[in-house]
Amino acid sequence: MPDVQPAPTHDWNGDSGARWAANLARLDLMLEDFGSAAIAAAKAQPGEQILDIGCGSGTSTFALAQRVGPTGHVLGVDISEQLVEMARAATPDGASVAFRCADAATAALPQGQFDLLFSRFGVMFFDDPVAAFAHMRCALKPGGRVAFICWRGAQENDWVRLPMAAIRDIVQPAPADPNAPGPFAFGDRQRLADIVAAAGFTAIDIKPFDTTLSYGRGASREAAIDDALDMAFQVGPLSRALADQSDDVHGRAADAVRAAFTGRPGETSVLIDGAAWVVTAQN
Ligand SMILES: C[S@@+](CC[C@H](N)C(=O)[O-])C[C@H]1O[C@@H](n2cnc3c(N)ncnc32)[C@H](O)[C@@H]1O
Repeated sequence: MPDVQPAPTHDWNGDSGARWAANLARLDLMLEDFGSAAIAAAKAQPGEQILDIGCGSGTSTFALAQRVGPTGHVLGVDISEQLVEMARAATPDGASVAFRCADAATAALPQGQFDLLFSRFGVMFFDDPVAAFAHMRCALKPGGRVAFICWRGAQENDWVRLPMAAIRDIVQPAPADPNAPGPFAFGDRQRLADIVAAAGFTAIDIKPFDTTLSYGRGASREAAIDDALDMAFQVGPLSRALADQSDDVHGRAADAVRAAFTGRPGETSVLIDGAAWVVTAQN
């Protein structure tokens, strides 16, 4: 059985960014309920100044801009040039937003300016998360707040667990450090709480958010399963586990993952359980 070395999960100006951009509509569908949960927790008010970290193509930035209205403002920051370009191009007329391409962990940010630091799945990729959160906290006003959503562990997320289990006898990914920068880096609740506290935040609240997410979509069940399979092969841990594998391995993996998805309900999407943390804290 072929071994697979763990690939870096955060080449956001390379392969990861390009794949995210190419799958945007599917990813927005998949992440919609998670983003809504984070935005509800953020309690954005008219007139507020918000910093949206790892904003990608701007879906959450635009949603937050509607809440702060014309007297408020949302600055989306993302390290991916391609995604920032897409966000700028998608900006609705008159929206009180701006986008900046920068590494939020180190870039000079306006100091003490923001009421809210927000992120939808954009803060799990820092090499030094304590330093990154401490750096971003300095952009908040005294008494400002942070609200973000991040994945729990891969084992709690069936959209990853099921396909990875399906290919277990076909490809053996090298064991990965669960705390390494990447989508599941904040799976451990205590570690996450310690990171946020060490960065200087107080009143830390971490709540589980569980929902059945729509993975892929199609006009029929068969088309939805095809779409889900295509997405799993393009974005996320399965795509990385299969990188550089032979056509034969890809073919057998596709059969196995298709069987796993077929076992899930859903008519126009494959419905799979997802698990996240919604985190809020004060500066
Ligand atoms: C999983 S995607 C989420 C994108 C977007 N928030 C969404 O929900 O559609 C993670 C995003 O974080 C961005 N990112 C990763 N590391 C970053 C960093 N150090 N500074 C700024 N953005 C970063 C990536 O470029 C990517 O757009």
